[in-house]
Amino acid sequence: MGGSNPYIEQVEAKIAAQPFTVTFKTPEEEKIVQITPSEIPYGETGQPGSVLDIAMGAGLDIEHACGGVCACSTCHVIVKEGLDSCNEATDDELDQLDEAPAITLQSRLACQCVPDGTQNLVIEVPEWNKNLVKESH
Ligand code: FES
Repeated sequence: MGGSNPYIEQVEAKIAAQPFTVTFKTPEEEKIVQITPSEIPYGETGQPGSVLDIAMGAGLDIEHACGGVCACSTCHVIVKEGLDSCNEATDDELDQLDEAPAITLQSRLACQCVPDGTQNLVIEVPEWNKNLVKESH
């Protein structure tokens, strides 16, 4: 499912113009994904070039109950490295994040977090997403 949510603030994000890597860490494994800017967006779910878009393009099915339109908190991830290269979270994203369990200062919604490619990212996929991530292999 793709699309946007007309009831929330527009996300302002700069899509990557240079190659970079995103390392996804799940409780069981680590997967490094090479990002090629010309391939963005990888699909129609989440903001173009978002962490969710990248994950799904790489075959990692991070939970995304609302379809990537900032209307749930199931796509919560922790950006361990490279957070400075991502767009600012909107108030709507922060409101949704408040509903997620175990949020940290590096928490983001994967569908709203768009890296600009100036840094490599390390993303921790929390424990509660591990079954879905595993099943997608
Ligand atoms: S998938 Fe619902 S907020 Fe990201």
